[in-house]
This record gives sequence, structure tokens and C-alpha cells, in this order.
Amino acid sequence: MTFYNVKSGHSVSGITISSGKRVPGGPRRLMMMGCRMPRNAGIYAAALAALLAVRVALADEASFQWQALGTETYDTTCAACHQPTGLGLPGTFPPLAGHAAAILARPGGREYLTRLVLFGLEGEVTIEGKPFNGTMPPWGEVLSNEQLAAVLNHVLHSWGNDKALPPGFKPFVPAEIAAARGTQLTSAEVHALRGQTTREQAEPSASVPVTFTSEQADRGHAVYRRACQDCHGFNLNDGEFGGAPLTGQYFARHWGNGSVAALYGFMLAKMPPDRPGKLNPQTYADLVSFLLSRNGYASGPTELPPDQDAQQHMSLQR
Ligand code: HEC
Ligand code: HEC
Repeated sequence: MTFYNVKSGHSVSGITISSGKRVPGGPRRLMMMGCRMPRNAGIYAAALAALLAVRVALADEASFQWQALGTETYDTTCAACHQPTGLGLPGTFPPLAGHAAAILARPGGREYLTRLVLFGLEGEVTIEGKPFNGTMPPWGEVLSNEQLAAVLNHVLHSWGNDKALPPGFKPFVPAEIAAARGTQLTSAEVHALRGQTTREQAEPSASVPVTFTSEQADRGHAVYRRACQDCHGFNLNDGEFGGAPLTGQYFARHWGNGSVAALYGFMLAKMPPDRPGKLNPQTYADLVSFLLSRNGYASGPTELPPDQDAQQHMSLQR
């Protein structure tokens, strides 16, 4: 009997089960053998596939070779819009570089990603601070569970996204996609699902005001005079060697809406230009404190920690 995959129109390719043998047709084939298809076979098939999926998931994880399949699927299916560079096209197709791992890290982000590739996305979204209002087509009908799991892994391991993966990240497996097929969603419903993941995330991130002490700002000032003032100036906006202004509107526009981690991370990555990252972490935190004090932020009893995880929660908004 040839099994026809009700949802995707493709036969499901072999999935390794715990015995290590390949079963042609995968788990759905196993369960459909010998049954006649009832009218709502799709629903039963999906529900049963979800159950079976859990059982094969463990074996799958170790044996799923996604690398080549992921690259191929990305190149033939996603690159047209998101570009081979993963940078997308401004205003039209959002970047996946730097963004995909951030989605994964949200509460419910992993589940959201499986629905996104299966059912598409339609509606206004803000990605890396830029609005997009396009439509991402659904891929559940044209790509297999293997291809979809592989392409998600490819995206999450490309263009530096791998460095932002949460600790203990486990690659997607085909069984997970199979399970997600269970509840059919429209592209607009996926958009609503996305809203839930971002709302939950908005609260804990950057939710407390930034803290630093005046002693810390003074220590930062001493370093600033030595290492930064030539370029950024005595008044922080009158430098000689092309240093950008570090006060006023310019500063507020660049840093005033995010967490203090963004400013700290920038300085660590780029300043001073001849030896970025070479000052010690405490010194960078002191320098940030100095810049904040000169931009009218109030000091308090608690130092700004050099720990970027802690900084992530501290908002520069006022
Ligand atoms: C026809 C163009 C097109 C193709 C092909 C395409 N996408 Fe998209 N993708 C989009 C658009 C447009 C959006 C933004 C949708 C919106 O504005 O609501 C998007 C958004 C995304 C997002 C971000 C979702 C979010 O919530 O921020 C990811 C991740 C993504 N696509 C992955 C993929 C993957 C993986 C593939 C290949 C299987 C793919 N895309 C193929 C157009 C495309
Ligand atoms: C050799 C000159 C030079 C020195 C020294 C230098 N900077 Fe910069 N800085 C620049 C230039 C040029 C830019 C703008 C280019 C860029 O954004 O990469 C910049 C940008 C910045 C910005 C981002 C401004 C913005 O809003 O875009 C910060 C913050 C900063 N520097 C802090 C520092 C600190 C703190 C030090 C001392 C540890 C320092 N810089 C030393 C030249 C310098």
C-alpha cells in the first residue's frame, strides 16, 4: 500500500526508530497500514502522528543529519526572499541573521518557529527595529518534515546566529514538525501566536531602571580622559578625530530606547577603536556610568554590573 500524506501531499520519507531500522513511509505509514481512510482521516492522522512523533523524537535527535538538507532547502526555498546572506531586503524581507536566534529565545519561540515555517506569517511585525508588513508563504504543503526541521537548524546555525543560541539548544527534529502539523493555522493566526511570544517577553526584558553610583561615574571619567577624550572631546560632543557625539539627541536616539546592555556591548565591541574590548569589563561598566551621568541619568546606591545578562533587564528609557 502506498501511503499518501494527507497534509503535505508528499510521502513522508523514512524515519529512524529506536531499533535503528529505517521504516519506509515513516510513522504515518505504519499506523495507516491496514486501515481504511475515514472522512476526517487528516485529523486522526495528525493526532496519531503527534503521539508517534514523541516516541521517535529521542532516536531522531541523535541521528538526524540536517546540515546538507538544510543548506539545500534554504538555497532553493528561502534565499530568494531572505537572501543568501540572511540579511533580507530592507523594507520587504526581514533579516534572519541576528534575528532567528532571538525569536527562538522568546517564551514559546521554539513552538512558534515550527508554526511559522508550516503555516506562514501575515501581518505587521517589527524586526530589528524596522516595520515589515508582508506575507511569508506557508511551506507545510511543499516541504517535508525533514526539510523544515533541517532548514530551521540551518538558519539558526548560519551568519553568527549560532553564537546567540540559548545554552543547551537542541536542533529541531522532523518529529517536532510532524507534531506541529496537528493544529492547522492560518498565516494570520500565526501572527497572533507571534504576538503572544513578544508580549510575554516585553515584560521581563529591560523592565527596571538602570543603576550606577557616582563613584563609578567618577572612575569612568578618569578613564575617559585617558582613552576617549581625544576623539570624543572634553564636552563629549567636541572631539577632534571624528568621534561621534556622546550626549544630547544623538545619544538619546541611539541608546535611549533600549537596554543598557546595547551600549555596553557596543563599547566592548568597538571602543577604543585601536584595541576594542581590551579594557577590563569593570572599566567598560564605569565608562557607561560616566556617559549616563553626563546624559542626565541619576546615580544611586547600586553599581552598574559588568554582567550583560543583568544589564539586559535595565532600561535606558525615561
Ligand atoms: C516569498 C518570500 C519569502 C520566502 C521564500 C520565505 N520568506 Fe520568511 N518571511 C517573508 C516575509 C515577507 C516575512 C515577514 C512577514 C510579515 O511581514 O508579516 C518573513 C519572515 C520570516 C521570519 C521572521 C519571523 C518573525 O516572527 O520575525 C523567519 C524566521 C522566516 N521568514 C524564515 C523563513 C524560512 C526558513 C524560509 C524558507 C523555508 C522563508 N522564510 C522563506 C518572506 C519569505
Ligand atoms: C580614535 C578615536 C576614538 C577613540 C579613542 C574612541 N572612540 Fe568612540 N567612536 C569613535 C568613532 C569614529 C565613532 C563612530 C563610529 C562608530 O560608531 O563605530 C565612535 C563611536 C562611539 C560610541 C557610539 C556613539 C553613537 O551613539 O553612535 C560610543 C558610545 C563611544 N564611541 C565610546 C567611546 C569610549 C567610551 C571610548 C574610550 C574608551 C572611545 N569611544 C574611544 C572614535 C573613537
